[in-house]
Amino acid sequence: MTDWLKTLSLTIPVIQAPMAGGLVTPDLAAAVSNEGALGSLASGYLSPDMLEKQVVDMQQLTDRAFQVNVFVPESRKEPDEDSVETWKNRIPFAEQAPPFSSEEEEWEDFHKKISIIMKYNVKACSFTFGIPPDEAIQALKKNGCCLIGTATVPQEAIMLEERGMDIIVLQGSEAGGHRGSFLPVSGESALGLMSLIPQAADAVTIPVIAAGGIADRRGVQAAHCLGAQGVQVGTPFLMCEECDVSETYRRELKRARGTDTRLTSLFSGKPARGIVNQWMQEQQAEEANALPYLLQNTLTKPMRKHAAREKDSGYMSLWAGQSVGMLNRPANVKSLLAELCSK
Ligand SMILES: Cc1cc2nc3c(=O)[nH]c(=O)nc-3n(C[C@H](O)[C@H](O)[C@H](O)COP(=O)(O)O)c2cc1C
Repeated sequence: MTDWLKTLSLTIPVIQAPMAGGLVTPDLAAAVSNEGALGSLASGYLSPDMLEKQVVDMQQLTDRAFQVNVFVPESRKEPDEDSVETWKNRIPFAEQAPPFSSEEEEWEDFHKKISIIMKYNVKACSFTFGIPPDEAIQALKKNGCCLIGTATVPQEAIMLEERGMDIIVLQGSEAGGHRGSFLPVSGESALGLMSLIPQAADAVTIPVIAAGGIADRRGVQAAHCLGAQGVQVGTPFLMCEECDVSETYRRELKRARGTDTRLTSLFSGKPARGIVNQWMQEQQAEEANALPYLLQNTLTKPMRKHAAREKDSGYMSLWAGQSVGMLNRPANVKSLLAELCSK
């Protein structure tokens, strides 16, 4: 098995989770990389120009390795016009939403981001929501880029290894934010990390990294015992002073207990774990009828923006994992990494 720490010249087996939505700034990611862990920029919802600016800023802030995370576009079944109209009437401010992007535009955006990663020789690139096309995999590999895939079930881990990934992040059902799932399964796809790590670690030969609900050294040690070579941590970084989280979001993170989150498709059309709020409660009965990913996201964007401006947590997406109940303490990147790595 390759030593992924050596490949990326890391001293700490921790990846700061990429967190799209303007939360992870180059300042946060560079602080992580400068401590010897892997800092991550999240390119989801960023334009290629904005990503390029972040990569340039990042390279000024650190000489260490960092990664860029990219969403793999997926083909979607276009919904009928009546469903779109129904949601337009249901979602506050939906009339202000921009036009839906086409799959072609999403792929164009994907390829532009891959070109930026190659132009700046970014050391690692991670993917979520699927397997990138072969030509992108080969081009990045030729450039010496370490490739990280996201799996939520062992079958996805096997496919990602077969297609050339170097590392796999195993995302358990405890994880905050969107599920990275891309294969249909017959039963329930949301496996807890305790079951997922050993099953996936036995199924592949490349290093596996555990993500979901890990917030202190006990979680890191447990993941290691189960067969993970490292951890990817998201929600706890939201509480770090370097993270660009609004006061409203931070207040809800502080207040929430572990039982206050659930998976929902109501914000984006794809299951994601967040703190239960008014929007999720009001629309719970319509959960299964949400529009496909990105369409629902596009329609709820003005609502989320308006809520953030008004400091109204009821209509914001408050992504958080089940470790949220352990976060009621001040933190910064240095203290969080020290806690995760202490013996
Ligand atoms: C606010 C937020 C945004 C996220 N955005 C992304 C993303 O852009 N790309 C990605 O691969 N994962 C994303 N994730 C999922 C993380 O990669 C990771 O699986 C998760 O944070 C781990 O669980 P934890 O939050 O309990 O630590 C996000 C998670 C959160 C909490």
